[in-house]
Amino acid sequence: MSTRDDGKFDLRRLADSGHIGRLEFYRSLTSTNDRAAELAAERWLACPALVLTQEQTAGRGRGGNRWWSTPGGLMFSLVLERPPQATTGAHWSGYSLTAGLAICEALSYELPSGNFSVKWPNDVYAFERKICGILIESPAQAQGRLIVGIGVNVNNSFREAPPELRQSATALCDVAGETHNLTGVLLRILAQLENRWLELTTVGFASLAEAWRERSLLTGRTVQLRGGTETHVGRCVGIDEGGALILQTERGPRQFHAGSIISFE
Ligand code: BTN
Repeated sequence: MSTRDDGKFDLRRLADSGHIGRLEFYRSLTSTNDRAAELAAERWLACPALVLTQEQTAGRGRGGNRWWSTPGGLMFSLVLERPPQATTGAHWSGYSLTAGLAICEALSYELPSGNFSVKWPNDVYAFERKICGILIESPAQAQGRLIVGIGVNVNNSFREAPPELRQSATALCDVAGETHNLTGVLLRILAQLENRWLELTTVGFASLAEAWRERSLLTGRTVQLRGGTETHVGRCVGIDEGGALILQTERGPRQFHAGSIISFE
C-alpha cells in the first residue's frame, strides 16, 4: 500500500478553514463525545466546536456498541447549536440522516470509485461494508446543543482489525489501496456537512430526500428492523420526504421513524 499521509493533523489548516468556531485536539481520549459533552456545557462556546483525537480508549457506537478507534481512523465530535425546531429525537433525526448523506458525498469526492452508500438511518458503506458511523447525543448538561460524533475508517486498515469486524467493516485505505491525508478528508467532510445542514435548516429534509434515495443501500432489499420490542421484516422501498424508512411488509407498506437494522439481504 502506498502512503500519502504521515498520520498527523494539520491543526492550523483546520483552525483557519472557517468551518469551526473552536478546535480541541487530543492524542488520546476515552471518547470525543465525552469531551464534547463537557464543552457543550460551556455557556459561551463558539459553535460548531470540533473535538478531534488520534485514538479513543472507549469509543462508543449506537446501541451500546464499541467503536474500533485506533490511530489512522478519523474520530471527532461536533458540538452544534440546536435549532429551535429540533427539540426532540424525532426532529433531530433529520440532522443524523443529513450527516450520513454529507459524509457519503464527501467520501465520494475523495474517492469517486469507492461505491459509497448510506444505510438508514446514518451509516455509510463502501462495497457493502461499513466505513462510517454516527452517534448523536444531547445530554442534559449540553445547554440544548447537539453532539454529533463521527467515526470514519480512513487509514486504520481492517486487515489489522479484530476478526469479528473484518467481514462487516472496511476503511478508505482498504478500498483505495493507498492511505489518505486525514486533514484533507476531514475538511471535505466538514465542508459538506456545513452545506447540507444549511440546506436542512433553511429548506427542510424534503430537499435532500432525492439525493439520499439515490445513495440508499437498503432499497430493493429485504430488511429486518427492530423498533422497541418488535421486529419487522419487509422489502425496503426507500425513505419518505421526512426521512422515515418505508418497508413493504406482509401487511402492506409501513413507515419507520426510528429503529435499528438487524439484517438485510
Ligand atoms: C455507530 O455506528 O454505532 C456510531 C459510531 C460512532 C463513532 C464515533 S467516533 C467519534 C465519536 N466518539 C465516540 O465515542 N463515538 C463517536
